[in-house]
Amino acid sequence: MTQHDPQQDIWKQQVGEAAAHLVEDNMLVGLGTGSTANQFIRALGRRVQQGLHIAGAVASSQASYDLATSVGIAVADLDTYPELDIYVDGADEIDPQLHLIKGAGGALLREKIVATAARRFVVVADASKLVQRLGLLCPVPVEVVPFAVTPVRKHLEALGAVLTIRQRAGQTFMTENHNLILDCSFPDGIADPVALDARLHAIVGVVETGLFLHMAKQAVVGGADGVHSIQPE
Ligand code: 5RP
Repeated sequence: MTQHDPQQDIWKQQVGEAAAHLVEDNMLVGLGTGSTANQFIRALGRRVQQGLHIAGAVASSQASYDLATSVGIAVADLDTYPELDIYVDGADEIDPQLHLIKGAGGALLREKIVATAARRFVVVADASKLVQRLGLLCPVPVEVVPFAVTPVRKHLEALGAVLTIRQRAGQTFMTENHNLILDCSFPDGIADPVALDARLHAIVGVVETGLFLHMAKQAVVGGADGVHSIQPE
């Protein structure tokens, strides 16, 4: 188990605050999921209390919906707001092209849907998430229809993945879309994320992957040397 680093919490607060200042009056805002996205949601709530007027918000999970509502952000759905101005979310790994692995929290499908609805996706993270090559630290979560889990598993193993079916509190984890997550480790990392993602999507029964490629336009990253904005290389 990785140790909790209180310094990381401070960096998450700082990037959440910085990203909240990217939101302008009358914007439609997508809300990500996870501890860093939560800092953004709290900071955005404070800005709303101070007079920022956002036109509306859409959440990528029930947890983010609940938090946003509790801090005074009115949240609707994509039927109400199918196009958003900005989406802010965390990530598990970020490479120099701003390709991401996401989904440790299990919300990857809705996160990708909301991210895709937004004109601009800003990823927020502490510096521990920056990597040169994806997949060396984190598995790629793959959301799978339960009926298809065994054949999908065989296809994924044929691609070189070492798999676990995600568990939480001793139970098989179910996403908010009633699917399973197969966490796919690639022992040498992922040399070509675009090619891998295409192969994963070609497997019938795979609903979505935690590879977010060519999506983030900017990363706001906090570390020992402060908060920095990073563009894709
Ligand atoms: C949830 C996610 C999260 O954004 C990702 O796991 C990062 O979480 P945290 O900010 O707590 O480290 O993809 O599905």
